[in-house]
Amino acid sequence: IPVDTFDLVLFGATGDLAARKILPSLYRRFLAGQMPEDARIIGAARSEMDDAGFRKLVSEALNEFVSKAKRDKDQIKAFLAQCSYIPIDAKGDGGWAQLKEAMRDDVVKAFYFSVAPSLFGPLAKRLRSHGIACEDSRLVVEKPFGVDLETAKQLNADLAASFEEAQIYRIDHFLGKETVQNLMAVRFANVLFEPLWNERYIDHVQITVAETVGVGGRGAYYDTSGAMRDMVQNHLMQLLCLTAMEPPTRFEPDLLRDEKLKVIRALDPVDKSELVRGQYKAGSEGPSYQEDAENPDSRTESFIAMKIGISNWRWKGTPFYLRTGKRMTKRLSEIVVQFKETPHSIFERDGHAPANALTIRLQPDEGMDLSMTIKEPGPGGMRLVNVPLDMTFADALGPEGEEIPDAYERLIMDVIRGNQTLFMRGDEVEAAWAWTDPIIEGWVERRAQPYAYAQGSSGPEEALALLHRDNRRWRDLG
Ligand code: BG6
Repeated sequence: IPVDTFDLVLFGATGDLAARKILPSLYRRFLAGQMPEDARIIGAARSEMDDAGFRKLVSEALNEFVSKAKRDKDQIKAFLAQCSYIPIDAKGDGGWAQLKEAMRDDVVKAFYFSVAPSLFGPLAKRLRSHGIACEDSRLVVEKPFGVDLETAKQLNADLAASFEEAQIYRIDHFLGKETVQNLMAVRFANVLFEPLWNERYIDHVQITVAETVGVGGRGAYYDTSGAMRDMVQNHLMQLLCLTAMEPPTRFEPDLLRDEKLKVIRALDPVDKSELVRGQYKAGSEGPSYQEDAENPDSRTESFIAMKIGISNWRWKGTPFYLRTGKRMTKRLSEIVVQFKETPHSIFERDGHAPANALTIRLQPDEGMDLSMTIKEPGPGGMRLVNVPLDMTFADALGPEGEEIPDAYERLIMDVIRGNQTLFMRGDEVEAAWAWTDPIIEGWVERRAQPYAYAQGSSGPEEALALLHRDNRRWRDLG
């Protein structure tokens, strides 16, 4: 079903994210028939270029980042016809009159800031002062949304000076991932899990986002950020919130975001003994982190693992363990909900009943499995085995399950539909920074050195010890 027609102005249209994610996602929505024929994408950036130059750039991006099966010459041509370009000076006057001229009145207007955060304020201000944006225009802003609480507050204030909160769409692309949304469906559309979803029945939760890529090519950004700011403060935090939150009364933006905010506010501070930071060494896959970051003295972490307590009735005493890193053994994101053992085992003599675990596989091989204990077939007595009840989306849903759309496709269409449910609210981002800041300040003050880890591993040994000393273990990354 096509969305309402729109004018989408993409600031930062010549940048990396536009080429990799935003433009290919728009094209795929166009192919799916969701982008109306008269919708327009107006690229805006500093570079002097005409429409033809921009279309060439878009077509190169599609060739590189859209799968071959979806690259149809005629379709690409039709899509490009809906793209145009205006050179714009974010901090000056150049191009704004032209942009105003180009915008239509009676369509959804969306402004996508795929630019450095220092430009959010200047762009928002000019959209208003030139009379380009109106009451129901939408503003999409990319991460990083600040580097700490103070900068995030400033960005919120800069945006609030020109736009209402209801117009602002802060992207965390993890929320656009099908499997992340599915987590809410699993929890709140089934009666099975919710009664058990608490400290009485759940021993602990593990959230892993492991990547095989290094930071080469974006070392300058990454070195000022590290895994904590780049991944934990936003993406892993969102996964934790969706796993831990109370059921919202309806699936509506503010009701959902209120519940996430309550979780963030209930997070315990993390002691240094519950935290492991790592940095990858040189290996067969590539140079060391320090070489990639072009900073031989860097203490920035490319891996982090931590134990987090949540101080509320549902979770007190059930830790959440988080880990994420670059150059690890496998690209794998999953949430494991490890249930407690049965209170009493009647099978003690012939076998111990391992506890149940629900694994939600976010990527790859999207799906979930519930490990169950059953009797091993055969006459050999009451032997128990642990088997997975396995559900892979691709198998369960057929072609629909195989064609999992990119997170950006869903999110951009939600902007046009005016649905903020999968976007972060200002207070939520600030709360996440308020929890993150003291942890980072702690290791900066201690001048803590990250542990070195081998490329292709599951991170430093010390991260394993974080669980071992609690008599638990991380799920094998394979
Ligand atoms: C980005 C981070 O936000 O998310 C990257 O800046 C990371 O460092 C990426 O690689 C992971 O996203 P995805 O969709 O590939 O899991």
